[in-house]
Amino acid sequence: MFDSKEDTIKVETLIELNSLINSDYADVNILLARIVESAMVLSEGEAASLLLLNKGDRKLYFEVALGSKGSDVQKFSLNLGEGIAGWVAKNNKSLIVNDVEKDDRFFSDISKSVGFQTTSILAVPMRLKDSCIGVIELINKKNNRHFTENDLQWLEIFANQAALALSNARLYVKTQKEIAILQDSLQLSQGFHTLIYESKEMEMVLNVVKKVGMTNSTVLVLGESGVGKELIAEQIHLNSRYAEKPFIRVNCAALPEGLLESELFGHVRGAFTDALKDRMGKFEQAGDGTIFLDEIGELSLPVQAKLLRVLEDGIFEPLGSNEQKRVRARILSATNRNLIDLVAKGEFRKDLYYRLNVIPINVPPLRNRVSDIMPLAKHFLQFAMRDTNKTVSHFEKSAIDALHSFEWPGNIRELKNVVERAVVITQDGSIRREHLLLGQNPIEKNDEFQGKNLKDSVNLFKKYFIISCLEKHHWNQTSASRELDIQRTYLSRLMKELQIQH
Ligand SMILES: Nc1ncnc2c1ncn2[C@@H]1O[C@H](COP(=O)(O)OP(=O)(O)OP(=O)(O)O)[C@@H](O)[C@H]1O
Ligand SMILES: [Mg+2]
Repeated sequence: MFDSKEDTIKVETLIELNSLINSDYADVNILLARIVESAMVLSEGEAASLLLLNKGDRKLYFEVALGSKGSDVQKFSLNLGEGIAGWVAKNNKSLIVNDVEKDDRFFSDISKSVGFQTTSILAVPMRLKDSCIGVIELINKKNNRHFTENDLQWLEIFANQAALALSNARLYVKTQKEIAILQDSLQLSQGFHTLIYESKEMEMVLNVVKKVGMTNSTVLVLGESGVGKELIAEQIHLNSRYAEKPFIRVNCAALPEGLLESELFGHVRGAFTDALKDRMGKFEQAGDGTIFLDEIGELSLPVQAKLLRVLEDGIFEPLGSNEQKRVRARILSATNRNLIDLVAKGEFRKDLYYRLNVIPINVPPLRNRVSDIMPLAKHFLQFAMRDTNKTVSHFEKSAIDALHSFEWPGNIRELKNVVERAVVITQDGSIRREHLLLGQNPIEKNDEFQGKNLKDSVNLFKKYFIISCLEKHHWNQTSASRELDIQRTYLSRLMKELQIQH
């Protein structure tokens, strides 16, 4: 087999690929593309693809598609058994078809719809421990020649390399995830969140956090709702000399005025009707750690006055007691309100504002740090998968585009909800555009539903649902009806009734 000059080049390429496989898993898709490209060039194919079998829906998805129509091809998927690649995956056997027109197994839809004429195909399974995890196929041997048994044997070797690269990468990702989950649970047990970011904007914020962390300054964290102000406050604490000391959170909006005072400063037994025993306030609990006053903009004016006095004097008294206690904790606060506006309206004390705002840190909204969106989305995907016990392997391009272009008025909190919902909705192991209900409730937003009775609304929903299923199956009614779990004839009738036309 290794006798010609071409074979020597192939061996050299394999050695080169092997060293890549052993060195770099940063992006396995690049590596897979490299393997397929080498196989295509060396065996003189006009185009080549690598399809992976999705365990969830048992379909083959194009991971790599090279050649003049490569990017168009990538939109398609094949059922197990469908087309030459489907046959190879189903039977776990290699196949050469040198005249596709004469072979019933050939599935012409893809070639036709992308406008690429296929004449010959060589397809081999990618195997891991003998079971097929995907298929590599070469299309059209150049100069109208035929694929040979020698081409097949070589492609099998390349497919083995690809399977190996993929399995190594998956193992790596799995270990990384396990480490991350372990770290998460370790941090979560102390109540801290894992801060995810990749953007320059957040890097700058974190640089400031690191600097102020080491000082004892009072910091005010500002930013829209859901941007992660609480996580920034946590990071200030974790980057301080007092990281091992308590981090005490107080949500100023969550407690009525009367209770807030006792929450902050504590009380002694009998201080008021319900004070059945002494209670330590948050300032005291924080000791010489950090106290984080969240939603500070919601404080009532009387409590603001008390807080100001405490901050100025550095001394507080539990309710009903004359005992003076010293404030030792570092003070952090946060709000999504515009405090300057509140000061102007007389709703927030100016003197308190200056006390709290020694160092302001602004957390940018998500739409201004788009490069954080996918890392965050993937992070929330992991959590949602654990919660729902579902396996969702990835976000498809349509979903990524939509996530990137959305405005995110609710910022990261909204992104988290969107991902959780998408994991619940998806049925096929990946997230596409239609699984993302961006901007709250799509039915509420969709004017077409307004003013309709239940029957008409349900029919409208049916129409959209069927159209999206048909689109997914490239308007192949047989496979759409299979997914909808209805008879093909019934689907046709529904299409007529609901006036669905292609
Ligand atoms: N960088 C991040 N990495 C991971 N999770 C994040 C990040 N930023 C925010 N989150 C998550 O998003 C949600 C909202 O964050 P957080 O509660 O800190 O928002 P906030 O700025 O305090 O909003 P609000 O003003 O409404 O209180 C939380 O569930 C938090 O864990
Ligand atoms: Mg908050």
